[in-house]
Amino acid sequence: MEKIFIIANWKMHPISSGEAKKLFEETVKTENKKTKIIVCPPFVFLPLLKGKGLGAQNCFWEKEGSFTGEISPIALKEIGCNYVILGHSERRKIIGEDFLSIKKKVKIAIKAGLTPILCVGENEIGDVAATKTLKKQMETALSGIPLAQVIVAYEPVFAIGTGNSCPVDLAMKRRIFIRNILLGLGSRGKEAKIVYGGSVNGRNAEEYIHRARFDGLLVGGASLKTKEFKAIVEAVSK
Ligand code: PGA
Repeated sequence: MEKIFIIANWKMHPISSGEAKKLFEETVKTENKKTKIIVCPPFVFLPLLKGKGLGAQNCFWEKEGSFTGEISPIALKEIGCNYVILGHSERRKIIGEDFLSIKKKVKIAIKAGLTPILCVGENEIGDVAATKTLKKQMETALSGIPLAQVIVAYEPVFAIGTGNSCPVDLAMKRRIFIRNILLGLGSRGKEAKIVYGGSVNGRNAEEYIHRARFDGLLVGGASLKTKEFKAIVEAVSK
């Protein structure tokens, strides 16, 4: 059976190594036979945390060079990372990342041996506008990319950090749409994993997996609360 991916996106939390180590220990303990836990802490804590399910929250699109403040995907792999979140909507909105640069990052991440967790998601309400945005994001970021090695995170912008999670039926509709785009991009599009993210908690997690049939979840706020995270893992493992 395929494992359910539960990806913890800690964002810019916590702010001390002691707290990071403690949270990491509590988080990895929740993994069971049915789940694969991936923890994505701030860069500075990565070397302190050891485990197969370690991910970064970003990387640069070159492997080395004069790029002040950027982080090489090769260096991430070297310190034990196997995953990298790319194109998170907070980076798109606050830092102005666009899908052309995100594509470059996806490409080099795979080359470096990292599994990219590509975030896509619309701001618009309404099927026509939403699907148009999703299609454009995916085609820009994924054309010519080996799709079997990619995790796509569907994160509708209205649901991120708002407590206003996406209605499950709508999320399911979008998951099917995303799969069709992936299939249109290449036959191995059927192998890419699709996870849901946006205000996931212990009460709604199960429906995204068992009803909307996502391959996993990308969890922000709730990944910082050990009890809530545990409740999510337990709910999807039933
Ligand atoms: P949230 O964040 O679970 O706090 O909504 C999800 C994300 O930003 O990936």
